[in-house]
Amino acid sequence: MIIVLDFGSQYSQLIARRIRECNVYSELVSHDISLEEIKQKNPEGIILSGGPSSVYDEQAPKFTEGLLDLGIPVFGICYGMQLIVDTLGGKVESHRAKREYGKSYLKVDLQSELFLSLEEEFVAWMSHGDSCVELPAGFKKTASTDSLENAAIEHKERRIWGVQFHPEVVHTQKGMDILKNFITVICQCDPSWTMAHYIDQSVKEIKETVGNGKVLLGLSGGVDSTTVAALIHKAIGDQLICMFIDQGFMRKGEAQRVVDMVSKYMNINLVHIDASKTFFEKVAGVSDPEQKRKIIGNEFVRTFEREAAKIGDFQFLAQGTLYPDVIESAVAGGTQAKTAVKIKTHHNVGGLPEDMDFKLIEPLRWLFKDEVRRLGHELGLHEDLINRHPFPGPGLAIRIIGEITPERVRVLQEADAIVMNEIKAAGWYSRIWQAPVILLPGVKTVGVMGDKRTYAYTCAVRCVTSEDAMTAKVAQLPYELLERISSRIINEVPEINRVCYDISSKPPATIEWE
Ligand code: XMP
Repeated sequence: MIIVLDFGSQYSQLIARRIRECNVYSELVSHDISLEEIKQKNPEGIILSGGPSSVYDEQAPKFTEGLLDLGIPVFGICYGMQLIVDTLGGKVESHRAKREYGKSYLKVDLQSELFLSLEEEFVAWMSHGDSCVELPAGFKKTASTDSLENAAIEHKERRIWGVQFHPEVVHTQKGMDILKNFITVICQCDPSWTMAHYIDQSVKEIKETVGNGKVLLGLSGGVDSTTVAALIHKAIGDQLICMFIDQGFMRKGEAQRVVDMVSKYMNINLVHIDASKTFFEKVAGVSDPEQKRKIIGNEFVRTFEREAAKIGDFQFLAQGTLYPDVIESAVAGGTQAKTAVKIKTHHNVGGLPEDMDFKLIEPLRWLFKDEVRRLGHELGLHEDLINRHPFPGPGLAIRIIGEITPERVRVLQEADAIVMNEIKAAGWYSRIWQAPVILLPGVKTVGVMGDKRTYAYTCAVRCVTSEDAMTAKVAQLPYELLERISSRIINEVPEINRVCYDISSKPPATIEWE
């Protein structure tokens, strides 16, 4: 396994991911991880990530002294390389005014193990202000560009390598090959870490942890919780109980689909709570989006607590926390080991009271989202489920601007089902991140149907593409598809007589309207 020390680069997570894509397990750890912790993890290689700092900054993050003497191969990327050079007595020059950012043409020394079997020249992605102008004793340059003398360096005997560019980003043409050379040629890692391997290991761990105990899992029907359900079920069968709370704000037919999928096809113990009546009562008359979220979140917790008490004795609560959630809190809050387990607050099973007496099981806490999808696939989950768009915990409640009523939810469900149906039929579903339909009950406009004048609601359709929901672009759906969506909604949902397509990008607009 390879550890990646995080010096704050936006690409740190990506490095760990790329290594896992080479079937070698990798973990992102805090930059100041102690030598004892490193020895415990027993990595075959250490990568120092890039970062926004300069080695001359007062607060410049450093690695623990002695790291370069452990005898484990070290690979510094960008800031990671500058830190190595600075620590070992070389010279890093700060020229912030002359930042190099973007593509550059790299000429490499093919004798270096890092560049083994590559071409002599290729495009690499640079993003740095400082550069290494004098190398420490024993180091030699292994790549350069027109404007940068030491674009890559090494000290073979000391097992230290460094590059000024970013091999982990797709714009670096041979980036994956460089990382592969480091992990397989230099560190001699065995590329055997696969999802099947992950399943075997998790099943074993879950069995050992749970023993004869019982596990409760809050299930939303999304890919994370369903994958957790399948994995735990594989390990302990009927000792797992899933609870699905339908708050009444799901998509059309969705609640039934979740129940069928889990209990019928996956054969998992499922407690289905139809709490829609209470949820509708609680949100009646509430228009403010944050107020809605708060009420729905609180009611969810209360329902969960009440129903869990009825189930009786269970010692473990499972949830689908993913690796990015774990490292977000770990890196921000110090070393990983010290980080307290945090229950995802934005998730469906958010904000559970701390005095509930159970231990947490989080079998996805080492995985990225795309890896969860691969795991789901390996566990035999249906492709439709694996590739499902994300859906917010409060559901359609935050897609109705203003007050929520059962009637408005029903109208939105109809329009939403048409959009889903049409983008799937047109082959656009998998190209889109999310496709919310938003009902605007505050906007009633005049229309004409046959010989009759109508006065009805407007809805907005918002299809966006995105990598991670942090930014989003408008999906450029063909006009014919947009027209079909609009005409079907207006013809089939009498309460709506006008359909708009939202053409705002994020930022400044968010994906959801509320
Ligand atoms: P925004 O609207 O902030 O959304 O661009 C980013 C992503 O987060 C989802 N989202 C939520 N998910 N509870 C959730 O579980 C919420 O209250 C919530 N609000 C937004 C949104 O669907 C998008 O994927």
